[in-house]
Amino acid sequence: MLTIRYHGHDCFEFDDGARRVLIDPFLGGNPLADVGPDSFRTLDAIIVTHGHGDHVGDAASIAKRTGALVVSNFEIVAYLERQGCKGHPLHIGGGRTFPFGHVKLTIAHHGSTGPNGEALGAPCGVVLTMGGKKVYHAGDTGLFLDMKLIGEAWGPLDAALLPIGDNFTMDVADAVRAASFLGAAVNVPMHYNTFDLIKADPEDFRRRVEAAGGKAVVVPPGGSLTLE
Ligand code: NI
Ligand code: MN
Repeated sequence: MLTIRYHGHDCFEFDDGARRVLIDPFLGGNPLADVGPDSFRTLDAIIVTHGHGDHVGDAASIAKRTGALVVSNFEIVAYLERQGCKGHPLHIGGGRTFPFGHVKLTIAHHGSTGPNGEALGAPCGVVLTMGGKKVYHAGDTGLFLDMKLIGEAWGPLDAALLPIGDNFTMDVADAVRAASFLGAAVNVPMHYNTFDLIKADPEDFRRRVEAAGGKAVVVPPGGSLTLE
């Protein structure tokens, strides 16, 4: 069993009852976040998809306070280790089993400079296996045909977390196509409505995925979804 809590933008918390992991903890600067960075007292790991400020977010402060292991690409782990975090570097196509579960990095078509213009390697997506469930977090990306490979070779996926906000990532129409490529049991929209530039209607995404024969759930910030 795996409970997925949404904290707004691309930040999700994964909890299997014994271990907890965060992806892309952008909380302090996010007007829609339901929790602050100080609300995490114990945490096993923080996974970061790419270097942009709305994804690295509060990773350093949370990791240092909780002792959580930072898992990301080589360059982002080195950047966070320079700030006093402990980390484990991976790179695209590589995976590793940790005490909390397995993390594999996938391609994403996007950028990855750091908050001050640092070169922080390639942007990534993540396939996280935890609590007996397999979840794909796309990070920030445009649509790509290899999403079929992610679903087929590294699935079957119990859930896919997909950006819908357009401008920097896929729009709703592309995310609906992504959902069909991935074939996940359930799809959850992310990366929308945090800023004016990425306004999108998550209910439109849900309706269009379901019209195409898939399943989607809109999880509001503070809400959660449990994969049984
Ligand atoms: Ni980005
Ligand atoms: Mn972003």
